[in-house]
Amino acid sequence: MTAPRIGIIVGSLRAGSFNRQLGHAVRTLAGERFAFEDIDIGDLPLYDQDDDADFPAAGLRFKQQVEICDALLFITPEYNRSIPGVLKNAIDIGSRPGGSNSFAGKRAAVIGTSPGAHGTVSAQQHLRNVLAAVDVAVLPQPEIAIQYREGQIDADGAITDERLRKRLQLFLDRFGGWLAA
Ligand code: FNR
Repeated sequence: MTAPRIGIIVGSLRAGSFNRQLGHAVRTLAGERFAFEDIDIGDLPLYDQDDDADFPAAGLRFKQQVEICDALLFITPEYNRSIPGVLKNAIDIGSRPGGSNSFAGKRAAVIGTSPGAHGTVSAQQHLRNVLAAVDVAVLPQPEIAIQYREGQIDADGAITDERLRKRLQLFLDRFGGWLAA
């Protein structure tokens, strides 16, 4: 069976992003089971409905990357109890122009990490609402909101925290089973 093609969308543009590190760790843990690819959102312009008739090139590239994936993995920080604006902007772009929603019918999973005690729970709930609006079905459980701690993941992407490794392994097993069903 071919490995499902999973587009990873990270909701942080920061070079040292903990969420990007988490993405690296998930890829490392999953091995060959999924064909992961990064879908960059850093070069997207702010969405402007006036540009719908002449859609920006970066937006078209983003839409095409979403469309060719079998499923998506969103890995997001929490900003002010919600998702970062850059991630919402990317979803708005992918859902437009009207009648050309690149997310329609996709499946996805949502995870995230932050140093805060609740580790992105609020952001993930908001993201689930937004994804429902663009016709994306999201893996219901397990919810993976991780309180970031230094040393959980090493520079090679190996998860050194045994409990976290088990949680992420369970998440990958459930995600894979759900996509195959
Ligand atoms: C934050 N941070 C944060 N953390 C959290 O757990 N809940 C929150 O509501 C917020 N709010 C928030 C707003 C803004 C504007 C910033 C810049 C940061 C802290 C955030 O989790 C932390 O900066 C993470 O390191 C961001 O994720 P990346 O960039 O490391 O992936």
